[in-house]
Amino acid sequence: MAKDRSVFVCQQCQTEHSKWSGQCAQCGEWNTLVETVVSKSVVKFGERSRVNAGRALSLSEVKVQRGTRGRSESGMTEFDRVLGGGIVPGSVVLVAGEPGIGKSTLLTQLALNLSRGKGKVLYVCGEESPGQVKMRVERIEEGKKSGPGRPRIPGKNDDLLLLPETNVDIISSTIESISGESDLSLVVIDSIQSLTTGDLMGMAGSVGQVRESAQRLSKIGKRLKVPIFLVGHVTKQGSIAGPKVLEHLVDAVLELTGERTGAFRVLRAVKNRFGATDEVGVFEMADSGLAEVLNPSKAFLEESQQGTPGSVVVAVMEGTRPVLVEVQALVVSSQLAIPRRVTHGVSVRKVQLLSAVLQKRCRLGGLGTSDIFVNVAGGIHVVEPAADLGIALAIASSLMNRSLPKMTAVVGEVGLLGEIRKVAWLDKRIKEARKLGYSRIVSSKEYKSLSKVVKKFLG
Ligand code: TYD
Ligand code: MG
Repeated sequence: MAKDRSVFVCQQCQTEHSKWSGQCAQCGEWNTLVETVVSKSVVKFGERSRVNAGRALSLSEVKVQRGTRGRSESGMTEFDRVLGGGIVPGSVVLVAGEPGIGKSTLLTQLALNLSRGKGKVLYVCGEESPGQVKMRVERIEEGKKSGPGRPRIPGKNDDLLLLPETNVDIISSTIESISGESDLSLVVIDSIQSLTTGDLMGMAGSVGQVRESAQRLSKIGKRLKVPIFLVGHVTKQGSIAGPKVLEHLVDAVLELTGERTGAFRVLRAVKNRFGATDEVGVFEMADSGLAEVLNPSKAFLEESQQGTPGSVVVAVMEGTRPVLVEVQALVVSSQLAIPRRVTHGVSVRKVQLLSAVLQKRCRLGGLGTSDIFVNVAGGIHVVEPAADLGIALAIASSLMNRSLPKMTAVVGEVGLLGEIRKVAWLDKRIKEARKLGYSRIVSSKEYKSLSKVVKKFLG
């Protein structure tokens, strides 16, 4: 077999260079050279080779597999929801998130669930020792005191195989040999940034290595119809080599987010070839792994400060599911020439815009000289316009030091003229709020302007 060689290809102009350099000599762009494998057997441009023609299918020949048939369950309802109804055989899924957020924990749980009675699971630990993984397994299993799938002896499981290896070609051969001997139901790679292939010179984690490793694994996964889950680290800035360059290579990208110091974690599909991308799963980090939160509204509102000025309960949609969260605002007179706007869970621009609307339309001139702090409890991010009214009311409530009546939920978009607009899924949100005992719901159904709402509830 011809030995593969590597070249450095500029991602901007596609020029090939034999050596790495910081700048592309052809187009002058900086940091665009990425190491890539080229096979010697590739036919050179201009040479002709004999290739068989492909067969095009007519629409009536194409078979469609609908629903969740053929998928396997992960053993976690929230996880299945995000995947679009379970794990598709042969799919490659990237689980991305900041270090320490719980990716390894989540995938260890998945590996444990699938290794019990559904075949073998291969967990490739490129970052940790098998001992560390085993300790995590024991920690997770010991917390599982009851229920189905409870292990008889924690840490004793002959179907969960650990492979401490970072060479992607050795990993591929291992996958091949295990699946030849028994049913392989899942492969977990923790993490894709730790893998390398001998065909490239670059360090582990470089764009070339990460891309080539993922490509090789994806090929073998598709051929053997084994689902592969890749762990990918992201930093706060969100774009180190890894998740971004992998997005188009994999079938689904799931993002695990949350505050490392808080308990809640939200798993969201950013891309999904086999399902909707707007579904989210909510988990809580406990002593024995990530626990599913089946009723997020109730969990998020457990410590809510209803009846205190600055606290407002808002009905937002997370995917197709309505969720109630508490928005908190604190407004204090500022010592600075340019007052501060500090937010957590909502964008600063939204707060700037809503406070401008409050100043102009509700005559709350005091906001111009006040610092405004806004926070969404539970560490979730609210981006929906439907939360506008709630955020505006929280700010007004803190400034005026008046609170909304208890058990009031708020939903509505606020326009620049202070009008309250209709939002999508209004009835679904109202239903969820009623289910949790919210007797009063402030929405565009009864109120048309922000100033009327402020006057009625806070005036
Ligand atoms: P980890 O899954 O290792 O994060 P990642 O792989 O994304 O870097 O876990 C992160 C944190 O979770 C770690 O600080 C310890 C904590 N943890 C628990 O609180 N409970 C548990 O059962 C486990 C396994 C971890
Ligand atoms: Mg980890």
